[in-house]
Order: sequence, then C-alpha cells, then structure tokens
Amino acid sequence: MSKSWIRHGYNKVARSLDGALNIQTRSLTFSPTLLNLNNCGPMVLDALQKIKAEDDSTLSYRRSCREGICGSCAMNIDGTNTVACLRPIDADTSTATTITPLPHMFVIRDLVVDLTNFYHQYKLIEPWLKATKPSEDGREYRQSPADRKKLDGMYECILCACCTTSCPSYWWNPEEFLGPATLLHAYRWIVDSRMSSRSHDCRH
Ligand code: SF4
Ligand code: FES
Repeated sequence: MSKSWIRHGYNKVARSLDGALNIQTRSLTFSPTLLNLNNCGPMVLDALQKIKAEDDSTLSYRRSCREGICGSCAMNIDGTNTVACLRPIDADTSTATTITPLPHMFVIRDLVVDLTNFYHQYKLIEPWLKATKPSEDGREYRQSPADRKKLDGMYECILCACCTTSCPSYWWNPEEFLGPATLLHAYRWIVDSRMSSRSHDCRH
C-alpha cells in the first residue's frame, strides 16, 4: 500500500533580525513523494522520517520527543495545525497528504519556521513562579487541590505554537498581539495561588 505526499517547502526566506518582522521572500518548491506505508510507522512524523531516510535527505523539520510532549514537530497537515507525531497517517491512500509549515510564519527551511518572536513574547510575561515570601515550612509552596485544579487545561500546553499561528489576529499584528499561547500562559500564572499579589500585579 502506497500513499502520495505533497510537501510545500520554502527554501529561502529573508527576515530582519533587528525586531522588524516585515520582509519575506519565499521560493516555493513542490515535491510529490510516493511512500510505501507497509514498512512505515503509523504517524505523519514516521512518514517524514521515512521520506528523509529514503527519498530526500535534504528535507528539514523539527522533532524530538515523538510523544506530543516537546511541541517541536508542529506543522500544518492537510489544512490543520498539529504536531506530526500525534497525527495518524490518513488511511485514504487515494488522496495525497499535504504538509506545509506553520502558517504566516517566516520559514527558515522546508517545515522549519522562525519562532524567535513567539518565544520572545512568551518570555515577556515572565512565565515562572514569583513568590516574595518563603513557604511556611521553608520547603515547597503548597496548593490546595481546588487551587491546583484551576491550572488544569493550561499547564499542559507544550508551546507548539499551533494555536498562535492559526490565529488571524496574530497573523495581522504579531508585533503587538501576544497570541493565544502566550496569553494562556500569562493567565496560568495569574491564577496560580502560590504567586504573590505583587507578582500578580506585574502580569496584569
Ligand atoms: S495552547 Fe497552543 S501552543 Fe499550547 S499546546 Fe495548545 S495549541 Fe500548542
Ligand atoms: S516530536 Fe515532540 S511533539 Fe512531536
């Protein structure tokens, strides 16, 4: 059983490193690949690994954990931003799977986008615990189960940037708008019961 793959790669990008994200030159390459799925793992990342090993060693993408933990293999697969290691290969072999870089991002090479601005904005919210007083017993800062529950749905974020790069407001104004991922993390620290009130004010 074989399946065809279409990779939209961008092999050239010009960007300014002085903070202005306003220059973009793309050179589009179009690379159809027919892949034998009989000896391939089940996920799209497995397909990319196989294509790189057997068909095109120049193919570039990020990956690390292959378990949906590191967030580095984020890309757009058939129109959806997702992490490739958790996306099963489409069983329908009659149509090609199309993979593109995360949208509206400066592309360094193939599926590797420039996340400098994304991480810079994340750093701006100072995403760490700030407590001005030591804990009562000098050990860890404790939380009640109810306070800990307030962090559910936020602490799990792996900073893959899928949400931010699919947000139209971020597309149009990435220099000013922090984007959904960074705002989620800001709120995650605001509601953390272990934060001092002064630190809460800083994040507001
Ligand atoms: S909140 Fe956004 S950046 Fe975080 S894991 Fe979800 S999609 Fe990725
Ligand atoms: S390789 Fe880590 S999330 Fe996919």
